[in-house]
Amino acid sequence: MLSVVVLISGSGSNLKALLDAADNPLFGARILAVGADNPADGLAHADLYGIPTFVVSPTNFESREAWADVLLENINFFKPDLVVLAGFMRILPANFVRALSPNLINTHPSLLPKFPGAHAVRDALSAGETTTGVTIHVVDEGVDTGPHIAQREVAIQLGDSEAELHERIKVVERELLVETVKAFADKKRETNGSR
Ligand code: GAR
Repeated sequence: MLSVVVLISGSGSNLKALLDAADNPLFGARILAVGADNPADGLAHADLYGIPTFVVSPTNFESREAWADVLLENINFFKPDLVVLAGFMRILPANFVRALSPNLINTHPSLLPKFPGAHAVRDALSAGETTTGVTIHVVDEGVDTGPHIAQREVAIQLGDSEAELHERIKVVERELLVETVKAFADKKRETNGSR
């Protein structure tokens, strides 16, 4: 079994998709814990599955590095194989990234390298794009710059609002994230024989 910790900041619909998928033992991955940088609504999904949660808010720390050290301690307590940023809206400092990468992945609502950052959907609309999408990538020390694992396109429709487009992206994103985590699980299973 691949063991996973998921970090979120918001509603956690991607987290819910992973929890639902992992509920089937054949999926091959287990969500050990869910962390957040605020008391995010999405933590309720973990509560429903009886999965432990932790909140480490950066406002309680003098530096981003000090905050990230405590976040890392919480994650390392569970010794996960993989950490998934699923709508985690904070930039993580180098000490955190170095400790976990390449077993640290992020899902982002654009076709990177286009539109990195916190407003990817809005930025794609403002740029007049006709297509955008989702990218799942390994996290490196830059902002949304790490090696791509998977990408899927989503068409932009005339008159799309940011919210409408983001919802359509998220439908595709949830599928791609579940498939990606399953691929990590399959790889671990192959590496370990059938254990
Ligand atoms: C997702 O679309 C994710 O790609 C995005 O936040 C949303 C979270 O949705 N993340 C970023 O923009 C990171 N730069 P969710 O809380 O419903 O899973």
